[in-house]
Amino acid sequence: MADKRQMRLGASIRGLGYNISAWLHPDVDPAASEKVQHFATAARIAEEAMFDTVFLADTLAVRSYDDPKGAAARSSNNVELEPITLLAALAMCTKHIGLVATASTSYNEPYHIARKFASIDHISGGRAGWNAVTSWSQQEANNFSREYHFDKDERYERATEFLQVVLGLWNSWDADAFLRDKKRGLFYDESKMHVLNYRGTFFNVRGPLGASRTPQGRPVIFQAGASEHGLNLAGAFADVVYSVPQHMAEAIRGRQVLRAHAEKFGRQADDIKSLPGVQIIVGRSSSEARDRLEYLKTLIDPLQSLASIKRMFGDLLGNDINLDDRVPEVGNTEGKFSTATNTVRRARENGWTVRRLCQEFGMGQQVNLSGTPDEIVSTLVDWFEADACDGFNILPAYLPDNLAEVAEHIVPRLQDRGLFRRRYEGATLRENLGLPRV
Ligand SMILES: Cc1cc2nc3c(=O)[nH]c(=O)nc-3n(C[C@H](O)[C@H](O)[C@H](O)COP(=O)(O)O)c2cc1C
Repeated sequence: MADKRQMRLGASIRGLGYNISAWLHPDVDPAASEKVQHFATAARIAEEAMFDTVFLADTLAVRSYDDPKGAAARSSNNVELEPITLLAALAMCTKHIGLVATASTSYNEPYHIARKFASIDHISGGRAGWNAVTSWSQQEANNFSREYHFDKDERYERATEFLQVVLGLWNSWDADAFLRDKKRGLFYDESKMHVLNYRGTFFNVRGPLGASRTPQGRPVIFQAGASEHGLNLAGAFADVVYSVPQHMAEAIRGRQVLRAHAEKFGRQADDIKSLPGVQIIVGRSSSEARDRLEYLKTLIDPLQSLASIKRMFGDLLGNDINLDDRVPEVGNTEGKFSTATNTVRRARENGWTVRRLCQEFGMGQQVNLSGTPDEIVSTLVDWFEADACDGFNILPAYLPDNLAEVAEHIVPRLQDRGLFRRRYEGATLRENLGLPRV
């Protein structure tokens, strides 16, 4: 099977799904974002389908924006389980799948993060992954005794040092450092312990880490920054990068740029995997799939979307909003993220109403594929074979059922084409992703 280059598949399982109003879906338990069984079900679905990873995104604040007034109280994204804690629970009810969680380099100390992910790697037998983000919201700054978030230069400088320290701490012990020799009374070989003694602008960390070398050498590093700052961080440190390109050409360019950044930092281009996010809605026919997609759009609460649009673009739509008006031609289009900016540009180019913009916004900023399983598989394979990606990060519209559809209808077709595993090749996430040993 392994003759062909193999596709990587991840599943993002944060909360109730990526539709901004997923909690209103009739098949979704609106209380599930604090129920461990909900995540265990999603992780098992992904593992039975041989996915490489499940991923928990995170925010260190209630980010819901209450403008227009009343929007925040209509959002389900207010309470959730802390993701690293949740990974420990998922480690106990899965055996093979990689377990990835976000942790911020702006609002943690590196020792905390090195220690927690080392623990998850030990608990899971070598399946831990850390999505290193720099955070971006004002609400997070305000929860960590800061009036404002770090500016971009500073937060990425801090992130660079943060990663150097974490990687250094994960190298505290050689793999064979611990002798635990009862006869000689010798617990470890002191020549195999390395004290970091890091001194930098943001961090002074002595080490060593109070955790032995982890089963996969060190946890796998994920990253998602799209700017030049983000790409440099990825090039220097990331094993896997999440992105949200809007079409195949953008994905091809993005992957080339990413690989060039790995080489810029003295690494091999193949050392870094690019996983664009996609949402998949299947139907028995193309028109059934389209209807299902349209139904998901009707769930979207315009008030919630208006709040996220306002947070990203300020007064783009003015104060006197009528959902049936066209999106105005003037006003700020530079959102916090390029993907959001693209959505507003498309709205203007195509003369969308505000209602339509709210619906597109509420579906998430990723590519949405709807169609029969064969149509969808053909698109995924086109991207993969055009070197637009190394696989995909599935962003289910609602959980767990939309993930189960991908597992049932898409994965077997990829396996039949010899592009996706039928069983896990290795014991660790690093081995399954085909990453070099460390
Ligand atoms: C798929 C994906 C997942 C992300 N997950 C998180 C997350 O969990 N927490 C977070 O604060 N930011 C997250 N981000 C935001 C990125 O870390 C980053 O800030 C954003 O893509 C903007 O890039 P830049 O920082 O290079 O400007 C995510 C981005 C993407 C594309």
